[in-house]
Amino acid sequence: MRQKIVAGNWKMNTNREEAESLAAALSSQFIGGSGVKMVVCPPFPWIMSVNQLLSVTEIAIGAQNCSGQSSGAFTGEVSASMLASAGVSYVITGHSERRSLYNESDADVLTKTLKILGENMTPIVCVGETLQERESGRLEEIISRQITSVLNGLNKDQIASIVIAYEPVWAIGTGLTASPEQAQEVHAFIRSLISGISGAEVADSLPILYGGSCNPGNAASLFACPDIDGGLIGGASLKAADFISISNSF
Ligand code: 13P
Repeated sequence: MRQKIVAGNWKMNTNREEAESLAAALSSQFIGGSGVKMVVCPPFPWIMSVNQLLSVTEIAIGAQNCSGQSSGAFTGEVSASMLASAGVSYVITGHSERRSLYNESDADVLTKTLKILGENMTPIVCVGETLQERESGRLEEIISRQITSVLNGLNKDQIASIVIAYEPVWAIGTGLTASPEQAQEVHAFIRSLISGISGAEVADSLPILYGGSCNPGNAASLFACPDIDGGLIGGASLKAADFISISNSF
């Protein structure tokens, strides 16, 4: 049985008061025991206080990014070891917003993934195609390039320790969700790529999350697909009731 995961990416939203009241609401509404791992990824400045507010729950803390460097003169950067010592256990890498707005390359995603693994945290490696790439028949080429460039830089144990998120760029923040059939097709393709690199056992055990306009109304039909093991949630993770409802959609 693969771990089911619902992770909330708060992106660059919430001031301190909003972040703490969202965490407090999650803490009071959280009911454990479902076997679904919930993760919240607040902006860096709120990680410590959100972690403290959620400490009575089993909700894990994630970060949205980290540096590819270990330490030193890198003004404005936050290292993987800093995140680990702040209580973070998951870190998102390769989000399409970082790839497109901050020019992060496949090589950068691999470097960061290795730093995160080196601190015994779980990378959530994001992949996804743009609408133009999909419509021009390049879906498999793009997903394959993004997946293999990370996986080829990891050993089998490291591959078995990551989580992948498929986030079609055209579905992020647009209200246009991939249909369960569209998402399942890509998830199965990703699993076949993993299998080709590290074998069926690793491929069968690795959680692959869907992200892109996932909400309480569509989560159940997505999560019912055989290769969809949960979600990476943007907008809907900013409302405690919606986020909890999504995590109850298996
Ligand atoms: P939305 O759920 O707001 O579409 O965002 C998805 C996402 O990018 C999560 O990382």
